Amino acid sequence: MCGIVGYIGKKQAAPILLDGLKKLEYRGYDSAGLAVRADDGEVSVVKAKGRLARLAERTENGALLQGTCGIGHTRWATHGEPSEENAHPHKCMDGSVTVVHNGILENYKELRDKLVRKGYTFHSQTDTEVIANCIDYYYKKYKLGPIDTIARFMMRARGSYALAVLFADCGDAIYVARKDSPMVIGAGRGEMFIASDVPAILKYTKRVYYIENYEMARITREGVEFYNIDREPVEKHAVRVKLDENAAEMGGYEHFMIKEIHEQPRAVELTLNSYLNGEYVDLSECKITDKFLETDEIVVVACGSAYHVGVVMQYVVEKLARIPVRVELASEFRYRDPILGKNALIVAISQSGETADTLAAVREAKARGIRTLAIVNVRGSSIAREADKTIFTYAGPEIAVATTKAYSAQLAVGYLLALEWARIGGRVDDVQCAAYIAELRNLPQKIEKILENKQSVQKFAAENSTVNDVFMIGRGVDYAACLEGALKLKEVSYVHTEAYAAGELKHGTISLIENGTLVLGVLTQSDILEKTASNLEEVKTRGASVVTVSFEGAKIPAEAEYAFTVPGTHELFAASLTVIPLQLLSYYVSLQRGLDVDKPRNLAKSVTVE
Ligand code: F6R
Repeated sequence: MCGIVGYIGKKQAAPILLDGLKKLEYRGYDSAGLAVRADDGEVSVVKAKGRLARLAERTENGALLQGTCGIGHTRWATHGEPSEENAHPHKCMDGSVTVVHNGILENYKELRDKLVRKGYTFHSQTDTEVIANCIDYYYKKYKLGPIDTIARFMMRARGSYALAVLFADCGDAIYVARKDSPMVIGAGRGEMFIASDVPAILKYTKRVYYIENYEMARITREGVEFYNIDREPVEKHAVRVKLDENAAEMGGYEHFMIKEIHEQPRAVELTLNSYLNGEYVDLSECKITDKFLETDEIVVVACGSAYHVGVVMQYVVEKLARIPVRVELASEFRYRDPILGKNALIVAISQSGETADTLAAVREAKARGIRTLAIVNVRGSSIAREADKTIFTYAGPEIAVATTKAYSAQLAVGYLLALEWARIGGRVDDVQCAAYIAELRNLPQKIEKILENKQSVQKFAAENSTVNDVFMIGRGVDYAACLEGALKLKEVSYVHTEAYAAGELKHGTISLIENGTLVLGVLTQSDILEKTASNLEEVKTRGASVVTVSFEGAKIPAEAEYAFTVPGTHELFAASLTVIPLQLLSYYVSLQRGLDVDKPRNLAKSVTVE
């Protein structure tokens, strides 16, 4: 939700800021803006509604903004509609403080009213303009400098923020502060960078500092000084990130989504290889012991696609390990006072590691003394740092807003955990474990095989891109795959799609089936395959066009107008394969409809607000 960047060095800031924002556009893209400080101290702001390209155009790729110190922002609107007025950066009333902000100031109304009483006026509907004026107010009232001022603001602010602030009368320096919204600081030679996410600055430096909650920093060309909320200096060391800068580039593909779909074999392979040692699961890299995993109650908390991984895990873990698994939407879990046994284990799944609700669920569990285990893709992210233990997925940077490769890598970790719980509980012996692992090791090449045959999905998408309603039905892990397939089709193609447990359709929803409704059945679970096939017959009788996704060579007792097949695997791992044609379908339907597949409307990649 919103991306922020900053640069201070010897080069012109604006082109570097635009370049960084380009890498962060996945975080929000309804408007963007830059603030650059000229040599005479004057801070110029340029903003544009719409995509970053408009801002680049307006500033002639940054050439119109002269100065070597600046901040930038790409917005996902929370307070105030997407407009130029509401775009960041925001200045305080007299222009002496300039702010970019990622997060939500929850008590902004109260602070705004107070500032209005003090004579401040406002031009936007944003909480960020309140921050700019509030900082200005404390700066002028106490006259104790930027760090003291920002600390005072932090003590009064409720909500989340990553802030970058320029003070007109404090020389060339960028001041930053953070609570619950991500921010990294990059260290170069005679130049420093700030960004919401590492890929935005990888091109310039691989040395980064992580700033913690309730910390502030003063950044100059010479380096960075950190402070806690009591204004005391904090010592920190830069870490070297291992990410490859090209991983966040398109690499010859037309879109990030299709690139990332194609990166799935590698993401799954790398993730599996990182935690497999011959025929055993080995989580020692994550310092996870059997004792840590021992539990009689697993609660998965996650949002969106990560939640769908949890649904797959529920089927797989319960079947293999016979431990009860509950899967909860993190946004519900955090507020419903859940009942948790002392020996429960919370498993938080998140690509970004910054999803506000999932992070809050981790904190809620920790506050109750419950163990937390995170499955996260982004190193250094809040969830990774706050959970008791973290298993990283090796998907690499995921840029397309719709997740694909991170979902697949999360599934791989879910299977490994299921096997570990089964082994610890004595539910599988070494021979069985080795057989499951051998099958897992085959998944990457099977995904590759599906991708080689993507033309069939492309053709189907071309013929069906005008469809209005789609239902995806299945049972067991097939239902879990449908949940993910339906979300993909909705979010990137804007096609109304519902996932239904196949047996549930007739309890109401079947009344929506009419001539031309597309019903896609996923059928890989042999013991319940005939039941789903019967459900497909029921909708066909009512006019639906039926499509199936099944294992190659399997006999499907339902006649379909179109049949996609995927290589066979162990039925418990089927979602890793059946989801691939559904991802491809979403991608190609979106292209057919002429949509922006990497940046669907109203969305943002990292959901750092509730
Ligand atoms: C859908 C999608 C989202 C995310 C969700 C959680 O394609 O990407 O539903 O899965 O916002 O995000 P993370 O995994 O970053 O916590």
